[in-house]
Amino acid sequence: MTLFSDDMRRNPFPVYEQMRKASPLFYEPQTGLWMVFDYESVKWALTDHETFSSRNGPDWIVFTDPPRHTKLRALISKAFTPKSVANLEPRIRELSRGLLDAAIPHGQMDLVADFATPLPIMVIAEMLGIPPEDRTTFRRWNDVFVRMSYTIGRRDEQAKRAHADFVAATPEMSEYLGEILSRRRSQPQDDLLTRLSSAEVDGERLTHADILNFFQALLLAGSETTTHLLTNAILCFIEHPHELARVRQDPPLLPSAIEEVLRFRTPLQWMYRITRRDVELHGQTIPAGKMILPIIGSANRDEKIFPDADRFDVTRTPNPHIAFGNGIHFCMGAPLARLESRVALTELLERAKDFRLANDQPWEPREGLHVHGPSRLPIRFDVKSR
Ligand code: HEM
Repeated sequence: MTLFSDDMRRNPFPVYEQMRKASPLFYEPQTGLWMVFDYESVKWALTDHETFSSRNGPDWIVFTDPPRHTKLRALISKAFTPKSVANLEPRIRELSRGLLDAAIPHGQMDLVADFATPLPIMVIAEMLGIPPEDRTTFRRWNDVFVRMSYTIGRRDEQAKRAHADFVAATPEMSEYLGEILSRRRSQPQDDLLTRLSSAEVDGERLTHADILNFFQALLLAGSETTTHLLTNAILCFIEHPHELARVRQDPPLLPSAIEEVLRFRTPLQWMYRITRRDVELHGQTIPAGKMILPIIGSANRDEKIFPDADRFDVTRTPNPHIAFGNGIHFCMGAPLARLESRVALTELLERAKDFRLANDQPWEPREGLHVHGPSRLPIRFDVKSR
């Protein structure tokens, strides 16, 4: 089975279906990975942290287990509140409009480069409180991180370069954060960095290293995933014009359509876990200490949970997809991703009438294997006057 050809990555779903039927737990000898395909097992692996550990690499919250995870999550939650996210709505609208103002008059754009990539990075910079003059540096760090994430598990020249850039960027970020945090402590602002530096639970605070780790995790967790939610939504709408027509006719359907995009073309196709003990699953034993891949993109197409799972249905109810994970690691940015996609897609649908693919080439998948979505999506549209 090759999970990694372009064709497969554009449409992995038929293979996922075969796997769920024939071998919902699959050992891949070349990589030594155990892949899990069915909804119940994927959800179990994501949720049961006593059996499946998240410890894997840097000290980022997503790669920690309790008790460290419990402490970090409580502290970060104090700063990254639902209210602070909701307050971003007008700014997200303004940023979306700014990007569309630049692109729309041309009657065409690359949705990835011109809209879906810059927007989430600008929103995170805004939320953190990165001053406008530092945004270019912030964008560069984002590139370094995304390129590094593409090369995990590889040892070729490109991977070495990406890793060296990542190693070089870390002290740079640390110094930058040190300066900005000390400014925030003397002059607090209404931003996430100020709140992270003052958050306190049971007399404990986040250290400089904790804030640096979270800053780095946000650069990765919050940008590329949201880029793919936006591009995959447009891809789904182009592929299913009847469903788009329903949303256009009844705009309050958009949030439910976004949930369906998350299920149907899940941006983050899988996560990692390490078994803490021997685990019995589907009649096989996964030994302790092995890496497993719970394939979220497959779980979200499991017919046992989602009737007519290969149908894109903007009114699907219930829709218990696990695109944001489940349990203690449930995505902290889910409210932001939902808000951002609702605002950005509302603006896009309003401004770009009759959008369609600009060419009939099959879209090229993004380089990172764990993400699902196009690396470019040229679209054309008729320009609607506002
Ligand atoms: C469509 C967009 C997004 C998707 C599909 C997504 C997906 C996920 C998933 C599947 C997890 C769980 C990982 C696990 O169980 O190991 C997760 C965790 C996380 N996400 Fe997101 N995410 C998105 C957007 C965001 C945004 C916008 C942010 C922040 C600005 C964010 C921050 C985080 C953080 C901090 C965690 C770790 C939580 C923890 O370990 O307790 N994500 N995300």
